[in-house]
Amino acid sequence: MRTVAALRARVREWNAAGQSVALVPTMGALHAGHLALVAAGLARADRVVASIFVNPTQFGPNEDFSRYPRREAEDAAALAGAGCHLLFAPTVEEMYPAGFASSVQVAGLTAELDGAHRPGHFDGVATVVSKLLNQAGADFAMFGEKDYQQLLTVRRMAADLDIPTEIVGVPTVREADGLALSSRNAYLSAEERARAALFPKTLMAARDAIRAGTAVETALAEADAALRAAGLVPDYVALRDAETLLPVTVLDRPARILSAIRLGSTRLIDNLAV
Ligand code: PAJ
Repeated sequence: MRTVAALRARVREWNAAGQSVALVPTMGALHAGHLALVAAGLARADRVVASIFVNPTQFGPNEDFSRYPRREAEDAAALAGAGCHLLFAPTVEEMYPAGFASSVQVAGLTAELDGAHRPGHFDGVATVVSKLLNQAGADFAMFGEKDYQQLLTVRRMAADLDIPTEIVGVPTVREADGLALSSRNAYLSAEERARAALFPKTLMAARDAIRAGTAVETALAEADAALRAAGLVPDYVALRDAETLLPVTVLDRPARILSAIRLGSTRLIDNLAV
């Protein structure tokens, strides 16, 4: 389904039949992490809609918009196999028609971490997700903890803009060696892919050290050094409040260790509860 009008008509039919709806927004190139969002949607709602839209406004000028993997036919088959009821795959013109002029900006939460390294990224995410939530009118929308800053930003945006859809966070799905599933893992060479396992392992070691009483600053510095030594160049390794993303220097509340690294030409992110 390509148009907002068709999506709205279908959701209206379901709602008229007393059925609840969950939305799973994605950019496609689907993997088991995305399908876990579909499963979580099916666990909460009668109907699940997945969207696939590679959103140009959330990519920076030097980022991977044009080379972002696109494989809609395989994605559609994977979604159907996972029990998803409807695929909404709008065109860029449907989402951003001529004259489009608005932007949603979430202050505070987006200022640091990935926001600092990807200027405008979260404005693009907040804008497209506010549109998708308004288009679908779903009861629930599922987002992965893998993109933790995105999850908090979307939750803040929906609350601030009185969008009644409940934003649901879903735990990160990982490969056997710990690497978080990501569409961008496809960019890694075999050698890089093997080395990438050090990313989650290093964050887990830092988490364990902090829990065991190592000073936060020391544990983060050690993680930064270990990543660098393996050629995984960190943009940041940080411990932040799990709700506000403000810095945490002493572990006295729920926190999250968050990091982004560069491995060759690929940028990977991950985070863990501490
Ligand atoms: P995309 O990167 O395709 O991710 C779609 C959803 O899948 C996001 O909520 C993301 O957090 C979740 N996800 C990705 N990898 C995951 C994993 N390993 N385990 C669990 N969930 C995972 O995030 C986006 O697209 C876009 O920014 C979007 C929200 C669609 C707006 O354009």
